[in-house]
Amino acid sequence: MSTKPIGIFDSGVGGTSIWNELHLRLPHENTIYLADSKNSPYGTKTQQEIIELSIKNSEYLISKDCKLIVVACNTATTNAIKVLRERFDIPFIGIEPAIKPAALNTKTKAIGILATRGTLSSELFHQTTDLYNDKIRVIEQEGEGIVQLIESGKLDSTEMTALLKLYLQPMIDANIDYLVLGCTHYPYLLPQFLELLPAHVKIIDSGRAVAKQTELVLKENDLLNNSMTKGKSQFHTNASTEVITQLLEEKYKDQISYLDF
Ligand code: SIN
Repeated sequence: MSTKPIGIFDSGVGGTSIWNELHLRLPHENTIYLADSKNSPYGTKTQQEIIELSIKNSEYLISKDCKLIVVACNTATTNAIKVLRERFDIPFIGIEPAIKPAALNTKTKAIGILATRGTLSSELFHQTTDLYNDKIRVIEQEGEGIVQLIESGKLDSTEMTALLKLYLQPMIDANIDYLVLGCTHYPYLLPQFLELLPAHVKIIDSGRAVAKQTELVLKENDLLNNSMTKGKSQFHTNASTEVITQLLEEKYKDQISYLDF
């Protein structure tokens, strides 16, 4: 049993989609969320830069006594989680695109994956897609510009619609029946995806699976918070608090603060 907080970090505000799932499944856990929006996006950075930023974020969370860290960023997971696990002695949970369920369930034998360049070019990503490439078509698409628009508060904008149309069309042409969201910012675009994709296309992200895995690892390490009170959540961003405030429910407003990390 441990009342210490769970640390969560992302290249920005998108990882709050993971925090939502975690909080739903583990409401008694205390959490500290770090949005490294000042350095967003990670997806266009080199692997070395992503590793350095991920170490910096983890060091901050560990200095706050976090018992486990969720790397709520696909790009940081695929490029840095191995180094983080070797360097620090607390458990790390990563986010990987939910390719397996899509690949096993597709009827049209074509699935789409939308992710950042950093994720699509990573070794971990190739290892996963290589398992299915001979049986199905995997249409990979870099979501260039999407994270930047979300980070600047333009979630629902004409620029966003234009980008999404451009990125989804080749997938529609290839008759995909699953779209895998390979970036934690993308679940916030669900209404747009539903509008732009044919009705039979299922959209999957990794949020619930990550929350389940976090619970399992906490249990295995005897780190679950068994108290009956609701957990305390803190959200820190090193950019303006405006965008993260728009994404989170009103009741968390007072728990959001600027932090120069
Ligand atoms: C990015 O910072 O480029 C996106 C974060 C992610 O991959 O989840």
